[in-house]
Amino acid sequence: MSVQEAIIQTTYKVYADDTFLDLVDRDLINKARSVALKAYAPYSGFNVGAVALMDNGAIISGTNQENASYPIGLCAERVLLAAVSSIAMDQKILTMAISYQTNLVKSDKPVAPCGICRQSLVEFENRFDSPLRLLLSGSSGEVYEISSVSDLLPFSFKSENLGK
Ligand code: THU
Repeated sequence: MSVQEAIIQTTYKVYADDTFLDLVDRDLINKARSVALKAYAPYSGFNVGAVALMDNGAIISGTNQENASYPIGLCAERVLLAAVSSIAMDQKILTMAISYQTNLVKSDKPVAPCGICRQSLVEFENRFDSPLRLLLSGSSGEVYEISSVSDLLPFSFKSENLGK
């Protein structure tokens, strides 16, 4: 046979709300919800908060940072990765919680990282050879748990593609 059909499957957990999470995860989600309020997002009005639980128990947060020159703006996830990589460059991230606050739409559903952030998150996972778990939620409602960010970006470009 010269052609085969391949299937990519993603499994993730859906919690009805944060009360079904353990206390550590619940705290992380609530921190992401509150840090979103500190975002600098005057152009979109979409405030995103991301919080990392590090291997040593430290918690580091990031928010989206926009600019009058729109394309320069940075998502909360990449702001957080840059902070982590600067403050604690030898520590892996165990879990990243991501949430948002906005008046534009109801904020009771999780949002997932954009494509560029997925690629940046996968780099981190590969760098530490360890799964980076995501908790996604709005300011209320369902929480999605994704056990490894690579699940959100099949066929990602990796260092091995460069022979590294
Ligand atoms: N944004 C994030 O910070 N993270 C995401 O996962 C999606 C989008 C930001 C970028 C921009 O500042 C605003 O949300 C609207 O796109």
